Amino acid sequence: MNELLEKNHSAWQLKDIDFSAIRKELVRDDEHLFYLLASASFVEILSELYAKNLIDHYHGNTAVVSWLEQRWQREEVQHGNAFKAYVQAVWPEFDWENAYADFAAEYATICTAEELEPSQALEMVARCVVEVGTASFYQSLHHYTREPVLRQLLANIKADEVRHFTIFRHHFKEYNRAEGNGAWKVGRAMWHRMLDIRAEDSYIAFKHVYSQRNPDIVFHDQIWEKFLKRLNGLARLNYPYRMAVEMLLSPVALPVALKRLMRPPLIFLARFALFK
Ligand SMILES: [Fe+2]
Ligand SMILES: [Fe+2]
Repeated sequence: MNELLEKNHSAWQLKDIDFSAIRKELVRDDEHLFYLLASASFVEILSELYAKNLIDHYHGNTAVVSWLEQRWQREEVQHGNAFKAYVQAVWPEFDWENAYADFAAEYATICTAEELEPSQALEMVARCVVEVGTASFYQSLHHYTREPVLRQLLANIKADEVRHFTIFRHHFKEYNRAEGNGAWKVGRAMWHRMLDIRAEDSYIAFKHVYSQRNPDIVFHDQIWEKFLKRLNGLARLNYPYRMAVEMLLSPVALPVALKRLMRPPLIFLARFALFK
């Protein structure tokens, strides 16, 4: 695995992206896209706090700790910086730094180690769920937008998230050989993280992006609900259900035939969950 970890790193750098080539006329008036990208930049950059929590959780496992520190954390922060640069290029009037400072101050009070699964194997599989969430979200946006620089960026970032998923899954399997959590426990941990996925992070990020963008409007939850409704509309047309379900099923130790049987109802459920 060490060899795999060495090779297994992001194939792109932020400095290689030509933000001057953005075709602004394709995105500038898309208010919803602005909120999505600005919020994503906040949440991705704050992965630093998650990395610290995770590093403490895996203290003693040098392979995991060094991958989290040297690769995962840096790549997530690069995702955030890439979205930040994109937002600043297209919507320069938005005061990113100010909004981010407010977001970081509120977020720092809620991101604590208690949110992790107590078992080391189950936290690894819960991290798989988060990576499926980000990979499928960026895939949806890639399908949605026609702007070439953003499409390239999203393709790069999605490839990183899928790779993160495979590495977390690898470590889950290693830890689970010792812990021996069965399919039920694993499924439950995944389900818990699915319910929890970025909900609070995204809400706080959106709130601060919105408040900075609309200083004369007092933020309230109906604004957030309206935003979610529009997000569901976007997901309905663009979400890669099959990819997400395949990825989610892959760490669970069930017979292949049973997994095949579960796929169609799970895809249906995933659609239902997004439409509600
Ligand atoms: Fe990311
Ligand atoms: Fe990731």
